[in-house]
Amino acid sequence: MNFDLSDEQQLIKSTAREFTDKEVVPVAGPNSANHHFDLELVQKIADQGYLGAIVPREYGGAGLDYITYALICEEIGRGCSGMRTVVSVQTSLVCSTILKWGTEEQKQKYLPLLCSGEWLGCFGLTEPGAGSGASDQKTRAVQQDDGSWRINGAKMWISLANHAKLALIFAQTEPELKHKGLACFIVETDQPGFQPTPIDGKMGLWASDTAEIALDDVIAAPDSMLGQVGDGFKVAMSALDSGRYSVAAGCVGLCQAALDESIRYAQERTQFDRPIAGFQLVQAMIADMVVRTEAARMLVYRAGAVKDAGRPSTLETSIAKYNASEAAVWCANTAIQVHGGAGYSSDHPVERFFRDARVTTIYEGTSQIQQLIIGRAVTGIDALKPMVLERAPA
Ligand code: CAA
Repeated sequence: MNFDLSDEQQLIKSTAREFTDKEVVPVAGPNSANHHFDLELVQKIADQGYLGAIVPREYGGAGLDYITYALICEEIGRGCSGMRTVVSVQTSLVCSTILKWGTEEQKQKYLPLLCSGEWLGCFGLTEPGAGSGASDQKTRAVQQDDGSWRINGAKMWISLANHAKLALIFAQTEPELKHKGLACFIVETDQPGFQPTPIDGKMGLWASDTAEIALDDVIAAPDSMLGQVGDGFKVAMSALDSGRYSVAAGCVGLCQAALDESIRYAQERTQFDRPIAGFQLVQAMIADMVVRTEAARMLVYRAGAVKDAGRPSTLETSIAKYNASEAAVWCANTAIQVHGGAGYSSDHPVERFFRDARVTTIYEGTSQIQQLIIGRAVTGIDALKPMVLERAPA
């Protein structure tokens, strides 16, 4: 077992680190405070090749492996979770899904536009009534005589939807078939029936774009489906296998940022005639942050290694996402504790880290959904399916 990064991975990590320190960190606080979705910064991230990190070069991507992708997500996540969310949605939920399920024509048409940042994409799975129970889609797609699909319904909590030129829309084609009637459509958003509305009042991720979408007679072209009718739920789950991984890696970056700020503050801040870093109880908090950050990083790398080996990675991904997102909330919260009153104000970034961390145990599958996936894998019992207990004869 080799824990060392390759020379190329080291180089990409240090480049992403420098990029984040120069371009992301200085604007992260102001963008958050101003609720500003910074499209110029998104373009700079695209210009670095990060929006198509795991897409092969022939489709305009950077052709990197999954571990290297995690290094990028970690660095961007260290600077700004809102921008890391852009990377997660564009690269994992949209690009990797088109890459896995798309026809050659679909890949050639859309991936270069997405990798270059010319187009943003969004992932329209969640609905007002379908969150954790994602298969219960009420959005309906009905095929027209000309082969196109007419889609009606509503989507909720969709990152990037106000700016996306392309949306992956999941819809039910035959309700009686339940999840086997679901399909995923590549929808071009430049049509009157596609109506995003920004969602205000979020607790965090103020630098990220979030919308609900009304789908009112939206038309998807005859050749716009990813996979076949009935593949929709698998398309969604495979997308989330990549998305959850990128969230986990971003959470490692959040943990690291909380830790870095805590070390810096504890060294500078004096009380009782010594830096507070000189108190054992403060060191205990910092030591626990180090341990949780390192453990989260290792579980992300392990999931990445499984993906790079081409093996099924749902279990490893859920373990990594569950652990890293809970660690990010814990580390951000503890960083506020290290900062004391100062940490409770926007004068220090740890307050933003905490608000931004909070959603990571919710989006792309709650911690409880990750627990169910893990529990199902190790017990062999699906807690979401009816169970008939066999009784021994009396
Ligand atoms: N890859 C491919 N196929 C998969 C899969 C995977 N990882 N996981 C399951 N499947 C397949 C199964 O094999 C099964 O196929 P068959 O019908 O052929 O047997 C089918 O999908 C149904 O699988 P399940 O029985 O596991 O489905 P379920 O209804 O029990 O649901 C669940 C399982 C894990 C709870 C799932 O519903 C889930 O992950 N829910 C959470 C949804 C979620 O994460 N939403 C986040 C939205 S994205 C987001 O946050 C947007 C944003 O903008 C940030």
